[in-house]
Amino acid sequence: MFEPVSITREIIGNGASLLLQGDGTGVLPPEVAAFEGKVQCVYVDPPFMTGGTFTRRRRFGQKGWKTGSPAPEYPAYDDRFASRQDYMAFLRGLLTNAHRLLSATGVMCLHLDWRASAYARVLCDEIFGEDRFLNEVIWAYESGGRAKRHFSRKHDVILIYAKSRKYRFDLTQVPLERGSVRRNHMRRQVDETGRVYRSIRSGGKEYRYYDDTPVYPGDVWTDISHLQQRDPERSGYATQKPLKLLDRLLRPVVKPGDIVCDLCCGSGTALAAAQALGCQVIGMDMSPEAVLITRSRLHLADMTIDCEDTPVAQLEGSYQPEDGVLLLTDFRAQHKSFPKTERAFDRLECWSAGYMLNGSMVTLQHFHRSPKHPELPLMCVLPENLPSLAVQTVDAAGRKTVFQWK
Ligand SMILES: C[S@@+](CC[C@H](N)C(=O)[O-])C[C@H]1O[C@@H](n2cnc3c(N)ncnc32)[C@H](O)[C@@H]1O
Repeated sequence: MFEPVSITREIIGNGASLLLQGDGTGVLPPEVAAFEGKVQCVYVDPPFMTGGTFTRRRRFGQKGWKTGSPAPEYPAYDDRFASRQDYMAFLRGLLTNAHRLLSATGVMCLHLDWRASAYARVLCDEIFGEDRFLNEVIWAYESGGRAKRHFSRKHDVILIYAKSRKYRFDLTQVPLERGSVRRNHMRRQVDETGRVYRSIRSGGKEYRYYDDTPVYPGDVWTDISHLQQRDPERSGYATQKPLKLLDRLLRPVVKPGDIVCDLCCGSGTALAAAQALGCQVIGMDMSPEAVLITRSRLHLADMTIDCEDTPVAQLEGSYQPEDGVLLLTDFRAQHKSFPKTERAFDRLECWSAGYMLNGSMVTLQHFHRSPKHPELPLMCVLPENLPSLAVQTVDAAGRKTVFQWK
């Protein structure tokens, strides 16, 4: 039978990547500090000093995942600071850690908006050096809500700084189709080989721009939209950024095998984009909701994940060590946000199976719901005769319970 047990770490594969619930502003935990001077890119998307609080929308059960029906909101993080001084002290902590973590070729991206970007620019100059400034990227988007007493504030600011003169940045990694760039003032022509080009005359010389050659982004980006309410990429985390934005930021800077760190990872967009580019990742966030979502968005090969469990659930099932077959038969958990349901497993958001090792759980298989696969598998086959089977469940309110088979 299953009995609740406490763990401090979850280890998957060789555990090389890290995901920790913790404060990115203070003294870094030793497992993150071990990467000082080794990280190729640190992305920081902190709270923007909005004065608000933010939530995560959580879907419930098979139906909720299938239809995306209105879901209860759970607190995710607080963006209220007593004063600008407090906020700047918070940013200073993050930027100092980012600077420490970067390697000589590394690059830092700080994502903010109109509220704090001007103050942050001065702080970045101080911590990184004025001559390490690379860009102030303007990410302009259309989203609901229009101002009447001033122009609508519809852009974020991403400050990019290098750690040293040796920084790596290869713009050719982010080509755009020239076809998509407006050039009404140029004449469309076709050359002798049939290639389409636009031309312009200046100083008696003709300049040709072929439609099939790439152009590279400048520092104002208008071609990446904000995530829409029903965007399939949406995780329910209020301030989630689009993957396309992170892909464009990371691609010129990283190569497969590099280390990417996000000190305020939220729903894990930067880490997911980094993994897609073949990088090892380090993610930190204060919010347990953030760590949970990020876990569900990452490929879980080779991760160490910090664990804070709230043993609130009960689990029943059967396990045959000789053939490794594990079957879950019942799951019980109560929460005020749960609608009435006959289906016990609607209360289960995701689960994983593995074994206990020195107080940690080594995860071998992980199952979670997605809009495409709203139903959770309840059976899996593990290696035969595992020394001490462990199962981790996360209920639909985000509470984790780890069980050991006794
Ligand atoms: C703007 S959100 C990040 C969104 C993220 N980039 C995404 O795409 O989902 C800011 C995050 O900073 C986290 N945070 C706030 N204070 C923190 C701290 N001291 N250390 C680490 N994370 C913190 C919040 O919990 C929140 O998840």
